[in-house]
Amino acid sequence: MASPFYITTPIYYVNARPHLGHAYTTIAADVIRRFHTMSSDQTYFLTGTDEHGDKIVRAAKKENRTPREYVDQVSGLFRKLWPELNISNDYFIRTTDPAHMAVVETILQRIYDAGDIYFSEYEGLYCFGCERFYTERELVDGCCPDHQSPPETIKESNYFFKMSRYQQWLIDHIKQHPDFIRPKRYRNEVLAFLREPLDDLCISRPKSRIKWGITLPFAPEYVTYVWFDALLNYVSALGYPDGELYKTYWPVAQHIVAKDILKPHGIYWPIMLKAAGIPVYQHLNVHGYWNVDQSKMSKSIGNVVEPLEMKNVYGLDAFRFFLMRDMVFGLDSNFSEEALVQRINADLANDLGNLFSRVLTMAHKYFDGVVPEPNPDVEKEMDLGLESNARAAIDTYTASMGEFAFHKGLAAVWEFITHMNKYVDVTAPWVLAKNKATRKQLETVIYNLLEGLRIISGLIYPVMPDTAANMQKHLGLAGDDDFYKLARLTSWRGLKPGVKLRKSISLFPRIDLDKKQRQSMEKAGSQKMDKPIKSEITIDDFSKIDLRVATVVSAQAVPRAKKLLQLEVDLGEKRTIVSGIAGSYTPEELVGKQVIVVANLKPAKLMGVLSKGMLIAATDDAGVTVATLDKSVTPGTPLS
Ligand code: MSP
Repeated sequence: MASPFYITTPIYYVNARPHLGHAYTTIAADVIRRFHTMSSDQTYFLTGTDEHGDKIVRAAKKENRTPREYVDQVSGLFRKLWPELNISNDYFIRTTDPAHMAVVETILQRIYDAGDIYFSEYEGLYCFGCERFYTERELVDGCCPDHQSPPETIKESNYFFKMSRYQQWLIDHIKQHPDFIRPKRYRNEVLAFLREPLDDLCISRPKSRIKWGITLPFAPEYVTYVWFDALLNYVSALGYPDGELYKTYWPVAQHIVAKDILKPHGIYWPIMLKAAGIPVYQHLNVHGYWNVDQSKMSKSIGNVVEPLEMKNVYGLDAFRFFLMRDMVFGLDSNFSEEALVQRINADLANDLGNLFSRVLTMAHKYFDGVVPEPNPDVEKEMDLGLESNARAAIDTYTASMGEFAFHKGLAAVWEFITHMNKYVDVTAPWVLAKNKATRKQLETVIYNLLEGLRIISGLIYPVMPDTAANMQKHLGLAGDDDFYKLARLTSWRGLKPGVKLRKSISLFPRIDLDKKQRQSMEKAGSQKMDKPIKSEITIDDFSKIDLRVATVVSAQAVPRAKKLLQLEVDLGEKRTIVSGIAGSYTPEELVGKQVIVVANLKPAKLMGVLSKGMLIAATDDAGVTVATLDKSVTPGTPLS
C-alpha cells in the first residue's frame, strides 16, 4: 500500500526576489518528493510565501506600493519561478489567503482558551529588522546578531505565549526521538539552547505600530507576531482541522529549512503544536548555507545568484545536479561558476554524457538501433560484476536519498557510471564486432550497457527529471510512465530486446568557461555603455568612499579561478586585493603599476582569499582596463 509522505519548504518572505538559497531548499524538497514517488509513495509537497509584518510594510513603502500590491507582485515572482525550475509542488500557500488567516485565528483562540496565552506589560530590547524582542544574552556586542545594529528599548503591553511550560516536554520529546531534528548537529544545537530557561514568547504587536497582520481573535487592537502566523501554514494548507489532506499527510509531516530558522522550527513550532493539541511533525531536516565565492550572499556585495540566470546559461538539470551534488546536506557550501562548470564537464559531459552517446552509437552501428537479445550462453561470463554493481548503487542510493544525503546518493550513481565506463573499456565491443565468433558476446555486452543506462536514467530522475526523460525516450521507453520506479530499477533485464532506440545525442555539451566568461564580459561591457548615469549623490555620500593610490608589489593567479588575480599592494600599508582582471592582464604586467583602490570596502573572501579593497577599472568590449594615474605619486595618497 502506498505510504503518505508530506514535505514542506519554508514560506519565503516577499521582501526579496527569489535567489540561489530559496532555489536550493525548494529543489531539495522537489528531489525528495520525486524520490518518494519512485517508491510509489503518495506524496504532497507544499511551498509558498510569508507576507505579513513590518518588514513587508517597509519594503512596500520603499517601492511606493500598498502592502497588498507589493505582496501580490513579489509572491507572483516566486510562484512563476518554480515551474521554470521543474518544481512539482502540489500547492502554493500565501499567508494572506483568507483560509490560512482563519486557521491562525482558530488556533490562537484555542491556545488562549487553554490558558497558555497571557497579557502583560513588557519593556524590552526590540529589533525592528527581526520584528522581535531580544534578551541581553542573545545580543552580540550589544547588537542584534542578524542586523548588527543595537535594538531599541520599547515598553508595551502585549500577549505572551507560555513556552516555558513546555520546555521539559520538548527536551524529552527530542531525546526520545533521536532523528526528530536532523542532522545531529542541529538537534544538539536545539538541546543546548534548551539547557537555559526558555523565555515566554511575545506573540502580539499593537496595531498602533503594525496593522499588516492577522488580528488576535481575543484582542482586536493587536495583530499576531509573524512567526505565529507563518508556522501555521504547514497545517492550514492541508485544511486543518477536518480536511482529508490534513488527516492523510499531517501525521507524516517533514519540513526542510536552513539553519537560519532552526529556532522557530525546532522550538516555537513543536511547542505551538503541543499547546494547540496537534501532534508534532515527524522530522525537521536542516541544511547549511550557500555562500558565493566564499562570501555571504548579499545585495550590497552584489554576489546574489539568480536561479533563472543559471538555468539559462548552464541548463536547468546541470544547475539542479550541482546544487544537490556539491552541498553536504547540513553543512555550508560554496557556490562559484567555476565549480559549477567543473562539475558539468567532469560528471555530466564526460562521465554520463560520453557513456550515453558511446553506447547508443555502438547500438546503432552494430544492431541498427535495436536492443539486442542478451545471450544465455555468455551472459554470466560477460557480466563482470555489472549487475551487482548496479544493485549496490541502488542500495546506497536509496538509503542516502531517504536521509537527505543527496550528495552520497548521487556519488553512488556516479560510481556505477564509472563501472559502466570501465566495462566498455574492458569488453571493447569494437573488437568483439570484428569477429563473427564473438557476436553472442557483443549482443550481451551492448544489452548490458543499455540496461545499465536504463537504471541510471531512473536513478537520476529526482535530481534531473528532464535528462531522465530524454534518456528514457532514447532508450525506447517513451510513454512508460513508470520507468523511474524503484521496483523497475531493481530488476535487471528490464529492457525489452527488439525495441527501437533513437539516434545518439549529446546530453551535456562541454562548457568552455573562458568563452562563457568572455561572452558575459562582453555583455557586461555593452550593458555598461548603455547604462544611464546613476542618480545624484551629495559630496558627503562621495566622501564616504576612501580612494587611494596603491603600487602593485606582486601579483599571482588564484588557483581554480580563471578570472582572478591576487595582488599585494602598497598603499602606505601592505594589502591583499583580489581582482577579476586575469582575462586582461598577466601578473607580470601589473607589478610596479600605480592603481586606484577603494580602501575602505568591507573585506570579502574570494575563492578562499581575503580581499581588502577593490581596484577601480573600466570594462568594455575589449575587456578590463585598470585605472592608473598620469604621474607617479606617494603610495597611500588619497584621491578627492
Ligand atoms: N519567512 C520565513 C520562513 C517562515 S517558514 C514558516 C523566512 N523566509 S526567508 O525568505 O528568509 O527564507 C529563509 C530560507 O531561505 C532559509 O531557511 C533557506 O531555506 C533559504 N535560504 C535563504 N538563503 C539561503 C542561503 N544562502 N543558503 C541556503 N538556503 C538559504 O525565513
